Amino acid sequence: MSQFKHLLSPAKLGPVELRNRIILSPMGDNFADEEGYCTEQMQAYYEARAAGGAGLIIMGVVSIAFPHGTAEPFQCAISDDKYIPGLAKLAERVHKHGAKVAMQIQHAGKVAARDLAEGRELWVPSMPRMTKNDIMASLTQEELGKFISSQRRDGNPTIRVMDKDDIAQMVEWFAAAAERAEKAGFDGVEIHAAHNYIIAGFLSPYHNQRDDEYGGSLENRVRFMREVIRAVRARVSPEFGVWIRLDAYELHTEGGIHLDEAKQVAKIAAEEAVHAIAVSAYATITTGSAFTEAPLVQKPAGFLDWAAEVRAAVDTPVIALGRIEPEVGNKAIAEGRCDFIAMGRKLLADPELPNKLAAGKPETIRPCIYCYVCVSQIFINERIKCAANPFTGQEHQQVLLPAPHPKHVVIVGGGPAGMEAARVASLRGHRVTLIERSNRLGGTLFFAALAYPENGVLLDNLVAQVKELPIEVRFNTEATPELLDDLNADHVFVATGAKRDAPNIPGADLKHVWSGDELRRLMTGDRAEEIAKKKLSLTQRTMMKAGSLSGATNSRDALQGLSKLWMPLGKNVAIIGGGLVGLELAEFLIERGRKVTVLEPGPALGAELSIVRRWRVLDNLRDHQVPLLTRCTVSRIDADQVHYVDQDHNPHTVAAHSVVLAIGAGPDRSLADRLAQHGLPVTAIGDCQQLGYIEGALRGGTDAALAL
Ligand SMILES: Cc1cc2nc3c(=O)[nH]c(=O)nc-3n(C[C@H](O)[C@H](O)[C@H](O)COP(=O)(O)O)c2cc1C
Ligand code: SF4
Repeated sequence: MSQFKHLLSPAKLGPVELRNRIILSPMGDNFADEEGYCTEQMQAYYEARAAGGAGLIIMGVVSIAFPHGTAEPFQCAISDDKYIPGLAKLAERVHKHGAKVAMQIQHAGKVAARDLAEGRELWVPSMPRMTKNDIMASLTQEELGKFISSQRRDGNPTIRVMDKDDIAQMVEWFAAAAERAEKAGFDGVEIHAAHNYIIAGFLSPYHNQRDDEYGGSLENRVRFMREVIRAVRARVSPEFGVWIRLDAYELHTEGGIHLDEAKQVAKIAAEEAVHAIAVSAYATITTGSAFTEAPLVQKPAGFLDWAAEVRAAVDTPVIALGRIEPEVGNKAIAEGRCDFIAMGRKLLADPELPNKLAAGKPETIRPCIYCYVCVSQIFINERIKCAANPFTGQEHQQVLLPAPHPKHVVIVGGGPAGMEAARVASLRGHRVTLIERSNRLGGTLFFAALAYPENGVLLDNLVAQVKELPIEVRFNTEATPELLDDLNADHVFVATGAKRDAPNIPGADLKHVWSGDELRRLMTGDRAEEIAKKKLSLTQRTMMKAGSLSGATNSRDALQGLSKLWMPLGKNVAIIGGGLVGLELAEFLIERGRKVTVLEPGPALGAELSIVRRWRVLDNLRDHQVPLLTRCTVSRIDADQVHYVDQDHNPHTVAAHSVVLAIGAGPDRSLADRLAQHGLPVTAIGDCQQLGYIEGALRGGTDAALAL
């Protein structure tokens, strides 16, 4: 009996029969064209998720009044019959794989970015109440440019507080959209009544300030939602599913939507005979990390208790969502806390998740690492992508096919780029040998997993895949031209990572100054003795040998714990470099009781992190009172201080018992060039070719292996 039998059991969502309880959560993808047509890219993306075994595919935000009320620049439309053929193709392609398909119908109301950009009125229930935040300050210049290009430049937006005719028009748009969805062969619609969009605006006691029959009491605020549901149901057949997505809470919003009221709203929706209720949440973005409380929840199963409360209040199926692991979802269904599990990010990272559960191979699922790359794309008006899965959004042009002429591929370096290249090449039928200098796979990802544990799950998955496939791994092996000759390699991938040049700062060679690389090697046991001899006193070396950080263990969990007991760093640590590495290290060190200061020479912090993850990290560091100094040039390091000048050339010092240099990383093609000069066919991938961290590494590895 399957470990996931409840999750994988068939069920009816109203009239729609699903083969299992796993639903692709609606996600705006930006895969339509500028005119709102459903493209090949969009169809292939959804088809892949249907082929992966989900019971139901829900398309993210589809615009009911296109381009009016549209939130994203490449959002799909359902506002005219001309959109039906493209959507019908999508429906057919999803159905071909045995999944059902629905679309989330939406009007963005006051957050309709396209209306803002194109100078149309913003339709709202009542005058928007503005919230202050400083999130723009965390954007890089380039991101800011893309952000701003979506805002109208000539003057303030025009706001239109909807009158009764407008309300009637909006209701009609929703109803007509549902009718067209059915004509296009869809099985249902999810009415978007959450996330600050138009219906949520009416439901919210904070945002809805109307004094007519659509505002004030709960009965009045739900009137618009009732009218939409009724109109939609009246226009579709009884075989067509109609359900709604609601917010359990509007967090960081005084007097906003609250679970008690959300339960009432759910009851009213149930009275209107919706076939299900999806329970989400929203948070006013008072700070960037609020977005990771809701709707893109970071906390595992962060909304599940609320879904369960709604389920207890109504006799209607409930769709739970929000970082729900398969085991947790399975249990929740078994206990009657919800009926379906919608998964968003997990199915971006691995569309095959349902099939892999059904096959009893959960360990082969490519995990989401909660890096927020996908959704950050939306913030800068780009099409979505996934850092953990280079195929996401590329399904229309990248297919993993057997190689016409299988070769012997030797891969040098067992970090993420090397492992991913090995996996893809092996799956294509190439013979793969992977050479690794240390005694473990992972490269810098191992250390990155200590700093952000979510990365560790990806590391485990990559290692498991390498083990499962017929890949020969040679540990403790240095790649030389002679060895590669001996191996008779048809092609060599060099994936040996970045180099980190020591900065030209007086004092950078002092014992208490660590390069990121030295720290990583010491802690992960990668030629640690060499580093220990150079940097540690005899007593420190004895402590290390006594089992703390000698690399004697391969367990990340043990290292996580042990590093809390001892690390070769003093109480005050200055980190020079406020990029991804510097900031994640700062988080790691504050958890280990260090007082950290970050000194970044440039204007931006964490530029390589996705916008949303950066918001989170920066908020966390600020909450811990970590000084984050930008535009500062370090002039000297001495025994207990770092000297720097600020942008106005004023000198300052920071007390530091230890200094970590998190700057100076760059591509390192030296081995690749040496092997190429020897006459070997070589491709450099990952950070040794171009710094790209996890996303770049996996993409580089995949592209190279597909090109063979
Ligand atoms: C890239 C991206 C786009 C999203 N767009 C939508 C959307 O269009 N409509 C919606 O209701 N939720 C949207 N969401 C939220 C998801 O549907 C889901 O509720 C949320 O990601 C939490 O579930 P998860 O942890 O399984 O991803 C989006 C999420 C992501 C990652
Ligand atoms: S981009 Fe990151 S957060 Fe988004 S689905 Fe992929 S791994 Fe998860």
